[in-house]
Amino acid sequence: MEDPTRAFSLSGRRAVVVGAATGIGRQAAITFARAGASLVIADINVEELALTADQVRACGGEVEVRTVDVRAREEIDGLAAFAAARGRIDVWPFKHDNQQFACKVCMNS
Ligand SMILES: NC(=O)c1ccc[n+]([C@@H]2O[C@H](COP(=O)([O-])OP(=O)(O)OC[C@H]3O[C@@H](n4cnc5c(N)ncnc54)[C@H](O)[C@@H]3O)[C@@H](O)[C@H]2O)c1
Repeated sequence: MEDPTRAFSLSGRRAVVVGAATGIGRQAAITFARAGASLVIADINVEELALTADQVRACGGEVEVRTVDVRAREEIDGLAAFAAARGRIDVWPFKHDNQQFACKVCMNS
C-alpha cells in the first residue's frame, strides 16, 4: 500500500500537535514529520511525549517538546507563545475544549 504521507507535503511548514504522547496525536505528529513538517509537540504525559519525540526524530523530523495541561488556558496560551516565538505556525489541527473555553485552532495557508 502506498505511503499516505506521500500524498501531501508539509515541507517547510511548522505544526503544533497537542495530545501527541499517545494515540491519534502521536500518529499525527509522526505523519506530519514524514510529510516534512517541523513540530512542536505537547502533552501532559511527559514520558510518552518523549517517546513520540524520539519517533519523530527517527523519521528525520525536527521537534520541540512542551509539557502542557490543556485544562489550564494559560498553559495553552503559553504553548502558543512558545511555538510562535520560534516561527510561524502553519498547522494546529486539534481543538482543545473544557467547560471553560474553546481554544485555538489555526490553519494558515
Ligand atoms: N481512537 C479513536 O479511534 C477515536 C475516534 C474518534 C474520536 N476519538 C477521540 O480523539 C481523542 C484522542 O483519542 P486517542 O485515541 O488518541 O486518545 P489517547 O488517550 O491515546 O490520547 C489522548 C492524549 O491526550 C493527552 N491528554 C489527556 N489529558 C490531557 C491534558 N489535560 N492536557 C494535555 N494532554 C492531555 C493524553 O496524555 C494522551 O496522550 C479522544 O477525545 C477520543 O475520544 C478517538
